[in-house]
Amino acid sequence: MNKLGILTSGGDAPGMNAAIRAVVKAANHYHLEVMGIQCGYQGLIDGKIHPLTSSEVEDIAERGGTILKTSRSLEFMEETGRKKALQVLQKFGIHSLVVIGGEGSLQGAERLHELGVKVVGIPGTIDNDLAYTDYSIGFDTMLNTVLDCIGKIKDTDFSHDKTTIVEVMGRYCGDLALYSALAGGGEIISTPERKLDFATICSKLHTRISNGKHDNLIIVTERMYDLQQLQQYIEEKLNLSVRTTVLGFIQRGGHPSAFDRVLASKLGITAVELLVNGYSGRAVGMKENKVIHEELENVNAKRTDKQDQYRLLETLLH
Ligand code: F6P
Repeated sequence: MNKLGILTSGGDAPGMNAAIRAVVKAANHYHLEVMGIQCGYQGLIDGKIHPLTSSEVEDIAERGGTILKTSRSLEFMEETGRKKALQVLQKFGIHSLVVIGGEGSLQGAERLHELGVKVVGIPGTIDNDLAYTDYSIGFDTMLNTVLDCIGKIKDTDFSHDKTTIVEVMGRYCGDLALYSALAGGGEIISTPERKLDFATICSKLHTRISNGKHDNLIIVTERMYDLQQLQQYIEEKLNLSVRTTVLGFIQRGGHPSAFDRVLASKLGITAVELLVNGYSGRAVGMKENKVIHEELENVNAKRTDKQDQYRLLETLLH
């Protein structure tokens, strides 16, 4: 019987389990045995591999995180690490591999493809930063979690006429901040794609306050500012008391949304079908509501053009 390996890598994302379930079910459908690789590429190097059966994945679609666990492996970034990984795959008789993860993980998959491994990648990252796919698994759930948190902050801000700076995740991609604001959770936003300087943030805030809006939410993507400095700047400039909330790791876990589960299921099944049909070195994704697949070597481009979303936002927040 042919063996298919599956691993999750990089930051966990809600919906990864639904993708694992879909891959295992689809593989079994095509009479492939599935080997679950624990802890991402590091677990592969270390041989943390065991059979993964259909019954083990029966009830995992609604669980956040990843039952396979995950890691960011420094050893796999080195050629020697990747060669070890290849030997382990051969030792376990794994002829093909599904990798679920973000940019770095898909790059890793591409490296294995270059070494002759039959591999297909599935985008699983809350950052939604891969240009080849409109959505990656985890983003929708994360956005809903962010909106839920922001809604609570807004209740208090409204009651006290307060301004809060909220920092959301996203690494170097502003989608979480941008889509939060589009969904009504945030009035002033700053993202890596359109970074506002302190003075601009202040002037936007000043305009809102002058127009009688005394509760305001400033959403910023992580890694952009020293938040303490930003808060202090606004307080001094506008003679205002400002709060700062970093949502942090409250954002990444939790039950995946229906959207993420369906997306994960579609992509998981397609990944297996590609392998069964002899494809390798591809990543599955979603473009204009259709499942697509793309060469792994082309999937690392970042989606930097956010003009459409920003245009909508300008209408909503003018
Ligand atoms: O890539 C997903 C992500 O959650 C980013 O948004 C964040 O910057 C990073 O992972 C945090 O990484 P770690 O889990 O290694 O601290």
